[in-house]
Amino acid sequence: MNKPSPIWHPFTQHGLQQEIIPVERAEGAYLYTQDGRRIIDAISSWWVVTHGHCHPKIVEAVRAQAGRLDQVIFAGFTHDPAERLAEKLLTFAPDSLSHVFFSDSGSTAVEVALKMAIGYWAQTGKARRKVLALEGGYHGDTFGAMSAGSRSVYSRMYEPYLFEVTHLPFPAAGQEGKTLEALDAFLKAHGAETAAFIFEPLVLGAGGMLFYTPEVLARMAELCRNHGVLLIADEVMTGFGRTGTMFACEQAGLAPDLMCLSKGLTGGFLPMGATLATEAIYRAFYHTDRAKMFFHSTSFTGNPLSCAAALASLEIWEEEPVMDKIAAITQAHKAAAARFMVRGDFENTRVLGCILALDIREATPGYLSEIQPFLYKTMLARGVLLRPLGNTVYILPPYCVTANDLDTIYECIDFALDRLGHERRKQAV
Ligand SMILES: Cc1ncc(COP(=O)(O)O)c(C=O)c1O
Repeated sequence: MNKPSPIWHPFTQHGLQQEIIPVERAEGAYLYTQDGRRIIDAISSWWVVTHGHCHPKIVEAVRAQAGRLDQVIFAGFTHDPAERLAEKLLTFAPDSLSHVFFSDSGSTAVEVALKMAIGYWAQTGKARRKVLALEGGYHGDTFGAMSAGSRSVYSRMYEPYLFEVTHLPFPAAGQEGKTLEALDAFLKAHGAETAAFIFEPLVLGAGGMLFYTPEVLARMAELCRNHGVLLIADEVMTGFGRTGTMFACEQAGLAPDLMCLSKGLTGGFLPMGATLATEAIYRAFYHTDRAKMFFHSTSFTGNPLSCAAALASLEIWEEEPVMDKIAAITQAHKAAAARFMVRGDFENTRVLGCILALDIREATPGYLSEIQPFLYKTMLARGVLLRPLGNTVYILPPYCVTANDLDTIYECIDFALDRLGHERRKQAV
């Protein structure tokens, strides 16, 4: 027997002896395992890979950067890749944003945004401490991010340690009125004490790939604006094309005060977070008093290799027809969704940008749904990496995925569902 690995993997119950697959290399939409299998990465390795694994332009940019400057303290120092990246990133971002604060992950980008929003009010002498968020939202696994996120199986154990956040009912189709009423009532009572509203624009990702409309997002933003509440757009998942536009905020014509980015920022090549802020927020910390600076850093903030990867990735957005690829994926998804809808075992089949999501009819829905491990294993055995969120199967592929790959992914879902039906019938007799 092989010696057990000392590695403690994320979101993994090691007690179930789940297979951990050694991957040797990756290219485009594929992972190649040590035992010679080729797996289609249909979820972009946790939603990070945009243009494809090991895109040659990003590989080359990182290689070149590695020989020049590996890492440098980012307080009191700067470097060309960071300067160029910040400039370029702002050309893609909503016009309201003018400053870039680098960090290492989605969670840190969220922590920074929350600290900037709360700090903004503290620095300007107004006691606004309340935070609004959406029921079902997910913003990461650090304590601030967990506090902003919905109370769920992800954070239950830590609930006593989370700070208070008011979660608005999710604006599901047909239920938007309830959300707007709840927001309106909250703001009338507490608007002047509310620091910020943090939201995943258009899609709650880890909450189950739940979509809501740009119209209701725009209306929520307007209500918040009327009460001076800062808007924090968490585009960690939705950013970089996932919803069919560069940022989901664009579809609601939104000008957020803070925007959190990570995952696709480097094309999924290296870890990096960025929090984009308005001039007003930057100015609230701009002072001759050192005690008023923004007290936040992580050691690798602004890492030159990550900056080089992100810069190369943004250049790919400029040079290659990335939006056309996304549009083609959307079209393929729509046709597949229409076919899936005919099956009786799915409900709520939905497509937005390059995301296709389907809920499987199930007696125990939710993240710990019993069917999840069965589906995951069945699809992986067919050479497709799909990691259902409980009974929700979704596809979120890198943009280099081919029409053939997509057909293989759709067929694989059909196959897994047929097998599930078969298993259920067997258990019923
Ligand atoms: C919307 C959103 N925000 C924040 C995060 C946290 O990002 P990270 O895992 O890089 O810390 C995630 C991760 O899935 C996310 O989907």
